[in-house]
Amino acid sequence: MIAYRAYRGGAVPPREDVIALYLANKWSSGRKPDQLMAALAGSDHVIAAYDGDRLVGLANALSDGHLVVYYPHLLVHPEAHGKGIGRELMARMRARYPSIHQHILVSVPDAVEFYRRAGFSIAENHAPMWIYDGDDG
Ligand SMILES: CC(C)(COP(=O)(O)OP(=O)(O)OC[C@H]1O[C@@H](n2cnc3c(N)ncnc32)[C@H](O)[C@@H]1OP(=O)(O)O)[C@@H](O)C(=O)NCCC(=O)NCCS
Repeated sequence: MIAYRAYRGGAVPPREDVIALYLANKWSSGRKPDQLMAALAGSDHVIAAYDGDRLVGLANALSDGHLVVYYPHLLVHPEAHGKGIGRELMARMRARYPSIHQHILVSVPDAVEFYRRAGFSIAENHAPMWIYDGDDG
């Protein structure tokens, strides 16, 4: 059974578990562990999914608390895909922002359908823009 834990105020899951999860998904932020852990500690919310002691999923959110919430990271361990963990992480995260005007994220092409099923739509007539120092985008 999967257990979900929420973190706020600088609390984060164990560093080695987080890095292992990011590297398993080949995310470049897993190779910037100090910045990654600081980023999670500085997030408004972090929600983690555990299968026993094993960290199998994680999501974080940044928000102004009133109008906008941005979801930078949502990832599930490749061995745990397709079990509803991503959907549950997103649902629990969205439930923390019930009356926010704008929920925003940048999706990789492979995850667009997942996010559609979670209630998101493509922002028509708008283009995602960024300055990015990673190599997995
Ligand atoms: C995208 C991701 C978070 C989905 O998590 P998951 O736990 O495997 O997804 P779930 O099992 O909760 O799936 C929920 C629904 O989305 C669908 N879905 C999940 N991934 C999908 C995909 N890549 N393409 C199409 N549908 C997908 C599922 O079939 C399920 O559909 P249902 O509502 O009909 O049952 C996971 O694949 C992942 O971590 N990918 C690598 C990291 C990543 O790309 N994150 C997003 C960054 S923008």
